[in-house]
Amino acid sequence: MSEKRNKLVPAGELQRQQAFAEQVKELMLLRTRNPVPLAHVHTYGCQGNVADGERIKGMLAQMGFEFTEESKEADLILYNTCAIREHAEDRVFGNVGALKHIKERHPATILGLCGCMMQQPQVAERIRKSFPYVSLVFGTHVVHQLPELLYRLLTCERRVFELPDSDGVVAEGLPVRRDGELKAWLPIMYGCNNFCSYCIVPYVRGRERSRTMEAIVAEAKEIIAAGYKEITLLGQNVNSYGKDLPEPVSFAQLLRTIDALPGDFKIRFMTSHPKDATKELIDVIAESRKVSHHLHLPVQSGSNRILKAMNRHYTREQYLDLVAYAKKRIPDLSLTSDIIVGFPGETREDFEETLSLIKEVGYTSLFTFIFSPREGTPAAKMDDPIEAKEKSAWFSQLLKVQEEIAAKRSASMVGQVVEVLCEEEGKNGLLTGRTDGNIIIEFTGSPEQIGRTVNVKVTRARNWILVGEAIDEETKL
Ligand code: 5AD
Ligand code: SF4
Repeated sequence: MSEKRNKLVPAGELQRQQAFAEQVKELMLLRTRNPVPLAHVHTYGCQGNVADGERIKGMLAQMGFEFTEESKEADLILYNTCAIREHAEDRVFGNVGALKHIKERHPATILGLCGCMMQQPQVAERIRKSFPYVSLVFGTHVVHQLPELLYRLLTCERRVFELPDSDGVVAEGLPVRRDGELKAWLPIMYGCNNFCSYCIVPYVRGRERSRTMEAIVAEAKEIIAAGYKEITLLGQNVNSYGKDLPEPVSFAQLLRTIDALPGDFKIRFMTSHPKDATKELIDVIAESRKVSHHLHLPVQSGSNRILKAMNRHYTREQYLDLVAYAKKRIPDLSLTSDIIVGFPGETREDFEETLSLIKEVGYTSLFTFIFSPREGTPAAKMDDPIEAKEKSAWFSQLLKVQEEIAAKRSASMVGQVVEVLCEEEGKNGLLTGRTDGNIIIEFTGSPEQIGRTVNVKVTRARNWILVGEAIDEETKL
């Protein structure tokens, strides 16, 4: 249940951080070996993490940092980590190991780690013991305190570990330094209450808490005024947006409000949990002017037995019902999903049900994962008799089946004219972008079209990528 505690970081606390930021600015000028202090911030994982990274960079910019892709020249190297699967964690540990050389060559370099991985006590302990050259470690609930943490490190403490466990806060008014120039991430809520049995997110990100509609709309207006052409609203389960606010509002209301803002931009959102996605949401997408006809609706499995063990709170039939309604209401809707293969206890029959579901839905694309046990989650303790080799074989089969579905879907688009936000010129000289349904498309056109919404005729399909040619001047939404 969403609870109505006050989660907002008080304005006074943010002012206190500003004062630390001023001090850090001066201290870093004395410490840097560069003309200005340089930071290298690398974010792993999902868009929620990317959005955090953009706020972290905003605060660092306020502290006088500029940014570099070259970790070797940085005064501060910060990895914003992801804990969703073991593979993600292994990559971070590998990269942290490689930082030792940089620290040996430039001992004044500050090496820091933050993000979801750090919220797991066993990980923080491993960093403390095995990576003594990492001196700044902070969790997901204290990002807004970065100025103070850096100040402590620069003045009096050899290592700073700030890792409180918490239900989570909402910090408004932090500066944001966005990565892209066309597409912006806009977090509308943080945390998760769902406790899917395989998932670490609720343990490392705290409980669901929504930003107010006012704060979100204000940020959306800033994004539009800065010339962005696409806003993606972010939350672990956007469909429960607003339930915890003092005056509850629904995600559908929020979508309608942002859709009504003036400007030339598109709206996307993720992620929708099927148990909370409503027909009203589908209606809003159908009736809106700016919301893309794309729905990411992670099903995870097509077997009711496995869905139950995953604690997903919907059945295959309920999911397919919603999909049928959505397809009827929005005939050109593009659906994407997440699938986990090899959940503990999954049998060949269960897996076959997943295959039959993905064929029935006809997804545009899938994000597919082999189950990865996460310490502290219920699924990590479940019996898991299926061998890794077998899981890999299922995984390959899933990819193959989806490839055929995507190829067919793409082929059916040849000859159509689609709206594309033109993002950049690729190495092959073709322009690239994504269709409204979020399919990558490469097309001939002129570089002035970058940053504009263009009409493109699809001439060919290459599995999940489309190929085409721009057919006229830019189009407005
Ligand atoms: N193992 C494999 N995949 C996972 N996901 C989340 N936790 C795990 C796990 N332990 C996948 C789910 C989720 C996506 C973001 O990551 O499919 O929707
Ligand atoms: Fe994880 Fe489930 Fe929450 Fe998504 S909804 S973040 S899969 S617990």
